[in-house]
Amino acid sequence: MNDRPITLLWSLRSLCDLACPSCYFGDPLIHQIEPPSKVGQLSHISPNDLKRREVLAFARTLKDSAVGRIFVAGGEPLNWPGILETLKIIKDAGIEVVVCTNGIPLTRPVMLQSLLDLGIDAFSVSLDSTEATFNDWMRPDPKGEHGWQDVVDGIRALVAARKDDGPRIGIYTVITRLNIDQIPAMGRFAADLGADYYVPQPIALEDDHLHHEQLSLRPEDTSALNAAFAELYGAGLPLTLPAGSYPGQVTASVPRSASTVKGCFGGRTLHFIQPDGAIWDCVSSLRIGATPAAARRTIRGNSAAELFPAPTACASDCPLASYECVNMWPLMEFSRILTPGSRSAA
Ligand SMILES: C[S@@+](CC[C@H](N)C(=O)[O-])C[C@H]1O[C@@H](n2cnc3c(N)ncnc32)[C@H](O)[C@@H]1O
Repeated sequence: MNDRPITLLWSLRSLCDLACPSCYFGDPLIHQIEPPSKVGQLSHISPNDLKRREVLAFARTLKDSAVGRIFVAGGEPLNWPGILETLKIIKDAGIEVVVCTNGIPLTRPVMLQSLLDLGIDAFSVSLDSTEATFNDWMRPDPKGEHGWQDVVDGIRALVAARKDDGPRIGIYTVITRLNIDQIPAMGRFAADLGADYYVPQPIALEDDHLHHEQLSLRPEDTSALNAAFAELYGAGLPLTLPAGSYPGQVTASVPRSASTVKGCFGGRTLHFIQPDGAIWDCVSSLRIGATPAAARRTIRGNSAAELFPAPTACASDCPLASYECVNMWPLMEFSRILTPGSRSAA
């Protein structure tokens, strides 16, 4: 990473063209009947997303700040009309950008070339299975127009179009108790596609979520998880995987007990921004819920330098770590992926 220590996970827009039933944005159909009421709860139908001019105004303040890397996610960020203008401002500020996408927009040649021209540093593309039927069940397009094949086509188009110093390409796979076997299978597939990194991320669903019983990992899945991770890490694939400690972090998160993280980066070198501009220390619902109203902040009308100064004190321990936090560790070690020479030879 450059010498600017702050990472932002910026969930830029709420809308998405897919309607994944297990997405942490929730189900838009359910939200029409029962609008989200919890603090920090995301929704694809959020009417409160920042206006384009508010997003751009904040983005313009980034150049004078300690922010060095931004993960741009959503919703689907690449479908928003303001995306290229926003990304250009961020890149011109000397910040590393990782775009987290469902991959379908990469099949649009003009969008793909524009992103390459901007010098985006990496693309994390979501694909949940080597099997189209399972992926498209996890990640359905309500219009029935796009699915697994488009995502694979998008990844292939990106691999084919990038130059030698072009962006890193990675695949993110949500792991549920129904696709544990995909931990190594998707690794092999990612390598075959010419990707540079691969992150199998455990599903995070609240206990009362409609699909919790069916999809959430359980303690009895631990031996299958351990075997699947051992196969992945032992396969010698030409891919960067999360650090060797990650499989243990995943299995430790399965019992879903709150825990303490020593020297946590949340709120120190990592900040989470939601589409309405709200800023949280991290994605932990426990930590978001424990944030006093008086401590709530927004990027709306504020500057990055004021909001996200370089930390001066030592990191403190967080007793509010939750099962959602495990997905933050691979983000915070992204330098391994962006370092020159880490690109796969494929
Ligand atoms: C919400 S999406 C937004 C970015 C983009 N639209 C995409 O599809 O990658 C970001 C990532 O979170 C993952 N995700 C969504 N809901 C999740 C959940 N409940 N547990 C774990 N990962 C989840 C998605 O699969 C995707 O990899």
